Amino acid sequence: MILVTGGAGFIGTNFVLDWVAKIGEPVLNLDKLTYAGNLENLASLADDARHRFVQGDIGDSALVGRLLAENAVRAVVNFAAESHVDRSIHGPAAFIETNVVGTFGLLEAVRAYWGALPAERKAAFRFLHVSTDEVYGSLDPQAPAFTEQHRYEPNSPYSASKAASDHLVRAYHHTYGLPVLTTNCSNNYGPFHFPEKLIPLMIVNALAGKPLPVYGDGQQIRDWLYVGDHCSAIRRVLEAGGVGEVYNVGGWNEKPNLEIVRTVCALLDEKRPRADGKSYTEQIAYVTDRPGHDRRYAIDARKIERELGWKPAETFDTGIRKTVEWYLANADWVARVQSGAYREWLSKNYSERPAA
Ligand code: NAD
Ligand code: TYD
Repeated sequence: MILVTGGAGFIGTNFVLDWVAKIGEPVLNLDKLTYAGNLENLASLADDARHRFVQGDIGDSALVGRLLAENAVRAVVNFAAESHVDRSIHGPAAFIETNVVGTFGLLEAVRAYWGALPAERKAAFRFLHVSTDEVYGSLDPQAPAFTEQHRYEPNSPYSASKAASDHLVRAYHHTYGLPVLTTNCSNNYGPFHFPEKLIPLMIVNALAGKPLPVYGDGQQIRDWLYVGDHCSAIRRVLEAGGVGEVYNVGGWNEKPNLEIVRTVCALLDEKRPRADGKSYTEQIAYVTDRPGHDRRYAIDARKIERELGWKPAETFDTGIRKTVEWYLANADWVARVQSGAYREWLSKNYSERPAA
């Protein structure tokens, strides 16, 4: 069995669903269920013995230690984090608590468990830490994309807290020999993305007739990767990655924010035209920039392709089309997330499932 942390969030949900469908090995899912965790995403697995959910904190070493031992876990994939840059600007404390102190608690529990395993299981064990390209800081327009050798220059409380967690993971390998793997991925998009992040926010605001808030001049550049491709990269690294290695994961798909917003509008114009016949681009509204806003991220994903043969399957055109279609087909999910109704479902279904 593998232990996935943060498996009720955006990427964790996609990972768990894909893992059960494609690999079929049982998954133990440990998630604190912050505002970003939504168990309704995993309702299709409610009666599936291959998925077991436990509500709890990665920083609770006693709980994690018990879960690892009782379930003979062979690998941990750590998604759990506070993940939204704007929230980290308004309230950094939770980011330090989960991303730094929480990861530390998780590593301590894993180190104790792994250290006591018999030799064969010890050698096969893996701890995969899911991180971000934001730890590398911001690139000038003509600078080469981030390689795994790029120095860490985090600029937001979010990226600084992720950088700290990456350093802890590295140190646990270097000092204790813990068999770790780290992936640094660019911006994901796709189904189940919480509508506080750029792409889902633009889709739901457009459909609701609300403004589409573009920070600053909208010329900040991100590399965008379809979430299913991120999940396949993580599976590949878990399966064949070199112990102690770092792999950058990206979509070879750099685009300015304004182009992303215009693409979303064009797809909505095609699939769900506005009643007045005008384009959704009419709703674009420029707003005050994010403090310390990184200008450009770009990922050089050649190492994972060269060493592990991984490449994204989706182009931006195919991925964004699937994403817009998913949001159009799942208006109920959006409404329940926006109203907070998914929390009712949560207490209804899971209040009798306390931490094991
Ligand atoms: P998310 O915010 O959607 O989900 C995070 C999940 O972690 C939620 O289910 C939340 O309940 C859970 N969680 C938070 N604190 C916890 C704690 N203390 N203990 C247990 N669970 C806790 O985030 P996401 O977008 O799915 O990102 C997942 C991971 O991938 C994060 O580590 C993030 O840094 C990384 N990442 C995200 C992106 C992206 O574009 N979203 C890109 C690269 C890397
Ligand atoms: P976001 O989805 O928050 O991801 P990150 O900050 O981790 O890259 O934002 C993506 C980009 O979109 C980023 O440059 C900030 C910008 N942005 C807006 O212009 N308007 C918005 O309402 C949001 C949420 C983001």
